[in-house]
Amino acid sequence: MKMILASNNAKKLRELKAILSDMGIELCSQREAGCNFEVEETGTTFAENAYLKAAAVVEATGVAAIADDSGLMVDALNGEPGVYSARYAPGGHDASDKEKYEYLLKKLEGVENRRAKFVSSICCIFPNGDIIRCEGECTGKILLSPRGEGGFGYDPVFMPAGYDKSMAELGTEVKNEISHRANALKIFKKKLREYNGTDK
Ligand code: IMP
Repeated sequence: MKMILASNNAKKLRELKAILSDMGIELCSQREAGCNFEVEETGTTFAENAYLKAAAVVEATGVAAIADDSGLMVDALNGEPGVYSARYAPGGHDASDKEKYEYLLKKLEGVENRRAKFVSSICCIFPNGDIIRCEGECTGKILLSPRGEGGFGYDPVFMPAGYDKSMAELGTEVKNEISHRANALKIFKKKLREYNGTDK
């Protein structure tokens, strides 16, 4: 089955491809599918933004589209950066991953409660309008300083619960087993099998 990821984030695409590899899904980015637009994330929840992204791509292409809207929610910051995770630094969308996690570390200077979670909301829309939605989380804490080179985004400053390494140190295989995206996609795979009638 052909599906377009409503994103141009190459690292996100790689993770989705790896996690969905056993589903026979041929996944490509929206740019590869000829969609040269960025969807404005005007929603106030991850689910709303995932819907907006998938809807724009399925409408433009007529091919099934899947979107992952994700981010980091920090307890001591009342859930920030949340849906603003991709633009959480003075430079907004233009800020680098490093600038974003450094900005976060600065906000948390002297803060004892480091609890946080990653959230991923998945929305898949088929050309006939059918929708599959699901959500996954990964709980953990924000480190005092960055560790590791793997992953992307806030991975160097996030340590998943039950591990003594940052998400960026754990490696792709472990991340794709325990991450918020992995947890959301486990549910997605089950729902897709049911949808396709291949869950027996
Ligand atoms: P969006 O879902 O493309 O709007 O972007 C979500 C933002 O949340 C990314 O730009 C990252 O900063 C952050 N984020 C989402 N998933 C991850 C992850 O797996 N690791 C680290 N940061 C992430």
